[in-house]
Formats: sequence, C-alpha cells, structure tokens
Amino acid sequence: MPAKKSAKSVRPCVLLVGASGTLGRAVREELEHRHDVLAASRKGKLQVDITDASSIGRLFAKIGKVDAIACAAGSVHFGPLAAMTDELYAIGLRDKLMGQVNLALIGRDYLTDGGSITLITGILAEQPIRAGSSASMVNGALEAFVRAAAIEMPRGIRINAVSPNVFAESMPGYAPFFRGFEPIPVARAALAYGRSIEGAQTGQVYKVF
Ligand SMILES: NC(=O)c1ccc[n+]([C@@H]2O[C@H](COP(=O)([O-])OP(=O)(O)OC[C@H]3O[C@@H](n4cnc5c(N)ncnc54)[C@H](OP(=O)(O)O)[C@@H]3O)[C@@H](O)[C@H]2O)c1
Repeated sequence: MPAKKSAKSVRPCVLLVGASGTLGRAVREELEHRHDVLAASRKGKLQVDITDASSIGRLFAKIGKVDAIACAAGSVHFGPLAAMTDELYAIGLRDKLMGQVNLALIGRDYLTDGGSITLITGILAEQPIRAGSSASMVNGALEAFVRAAAIEMPRGIRINAVSPNVFAESMPGYAPFFRGFEPIPVARAALAYGRSIEGAQTGQVYKVF
C-alpha cells in the first residue's frame, strides 16, 4: 500500500526574479501548482534590482533559504552596430549578464543542497538579427558561464539556462526585428524552467526554438 501523504507535505520554494514580466508571469503559472513561488522584481512587494549586487544580497538576507532560483529578467540595449558604444554595451553587461551571474554567485549560498539555478538567454546567441549585437554577446556569455559554473557548483547545486525564440506575446513590439522567425507561445519557454528546476541535468542550455 502506498505511504499516506502527510497533510503538511512541504512544497519546494522558488525565488523567481522578473516574475511580473511576459516570461515571468508564464513561469509563475507553470510552477505555482507544485512550488511556493517568491515573486521578485524592482517594483512590488519583494524588491530586487539585479544590476546592484547589494540589492541581491538584501533580498536573500530577507527571504533566507530557497530550493531554486529562477531568473526571467535582464535587459540589453538594442541598436545598430554602427551606433553601439562602450556605454551602450555596458547596459547589457551590467543588467542581463552580470545581474544574472551575481544572482547565481550570491544566491548559491542560500540554496538548499541539490537546489537549482535557472538563467535566461535567448535565440540571438546563435541566430543574430540587426541591432542585436549586445543581446547576442550577452546571451552567448551567459551560456558559456552556465556550462562552466555547472562543473564547480557545490552541494549538488545545478545550473541551467533557457534559450527561447521570440515570444508570440512579444510580437506586437518585436515583429519588425524578427521577420521570418517562428514565434513560440511564452508558455513553452516556461515549461523549460520546470525541466531545469524539477529535472536532474546541469550545465544545459534548453533551447525552445
Ligand atoms: N520577449 C521575448 O520574446 C524574449 C525572447 C527570448 C528571450 N527573452 C528574454 O527573457 C527575459 C524576459 O523578457 P520579457 O519579454 O518577459 O521582459 P519583460 O516583460 O520586460 O519583463 C521583465 C521582468 O523583469 C523585471 N526586471 C527588469 N529589470 C530588472 C532588474 N534590473 N532587476 C530585477 N528585475 C528586473 C521586470 O519587473 P520590474 O520592472 O518591476 O523590475 C519584469 O518583471 C529577458 O532577459 C529577455 O531578453 C525574451
């Protein structure tokens, strides 16, 4: 006979950064059936700005241990290569790249043994578009970071990235940049977060193209 489930069975706890965005809302919907989701972003009840390492530190000091960290935030500057400058590249380096790297570095000490980190990249790492050189650079760097960090994570902590195609839900604004791409429903990208968090793999880039 199967063991009786305790009425008080504990659900895993996931910190989701960028929970109020197009992707974040879909990830939250995918996870909240099985997890307690702590929703964070710059505004709202649980605040964090990933461009500021001390803000990330304050967030973890407030929430304590979690079983998973998932990021659905990260900005870069889009602009033609001819107009790109050191300062414009620095936006993406500080936000989408080092924001997520710092989330992983600071957050790993607050993860339970065997916990996971899931970062966001995107199709531009390998399929460039005009005005997307910063996004391509940052996404590629994040994917290399995830592969490298995975082999050194302590206590069985896993780290993966989700690399989606452009979302159908974002096409009203993004269509002119993504002619000929096949947009995906954002819910498909959210499924990959479930795979990363609830699966067993590490160092993976889950492509949702
Ligand atoms: N949209 C697409 O088609 C697509 C495709 C592939 C990959 N991606 C990637 O997916 C990620 C999310 O995209 P999205 O379209 O869902 O963006 P979005 O709708 O603009 O949502 C961004 C989310 O991140 C939060 N956020 C922004 N800057 C932050 C910061 N510095 N610190 C903490 N939270 C921050 C925002 O909330 P607050 O404003 O309250 O901070 C919001 O919750 C991005 O990295 C993007 O490159 C998007």
